[in-house]
Amino acid sequence: MKIALGCDHGGFEHKCAISDHLKERGFEIVDCGIYENKSIDYPDIAVTVAKKITDKSCQLGILVCGTGIGMSMAANKVKGIRAAACSDHFSAKYTRLHNDANILCLGGRVIGIGTALELVDLFVDTEFEGGRHINRIQKISNIER
Ligand code: RB5
Repeated sequence: MKIALGCDHGGFEHKCAISDHLKERGFEIVDCGIYENKSIDYPDIAVTVAKKITDKSCQLGILVCGTGIGMSMAANKVKGIRAAACSDHFSAKYTRLHNDANILCLGGRVIGIGTALELVDLFVDTEFEGGRHINRIQKISNIER
């Protein structure tokens, strides 16, 4: 599985740790920046990662900013993106199971790196459940039209 990764200055250390962790686990990482810890505008990175999902070059994305919220707001403006800002284990798992989320957004100023790696593992290891949730996802897509 190919995973697109991005962050702003609020999530740089987390992004580096997530990248190392997922590479160790055998995932292919497409690092969309930032590549040094400098102040940038998170929507620029959010849209770059989101487009890796919508053009199908990556299957899932992970974005880290200070809160995870700005990244999720920006990524969700891209048609076909279901980005979820999570800071707990249950949400990270169920946003894949029930929402078929394709981007996980984390807050580098909200959770520590240890928790972030656990949420990342839950997110990438959980499959969409389908069934009754398919129609609900379709209704989200209908809002985009
Ligand atoms: C940057 O200071 C901060 O606003 C950003 O990382 C993020 O938290 C926005 O939602």
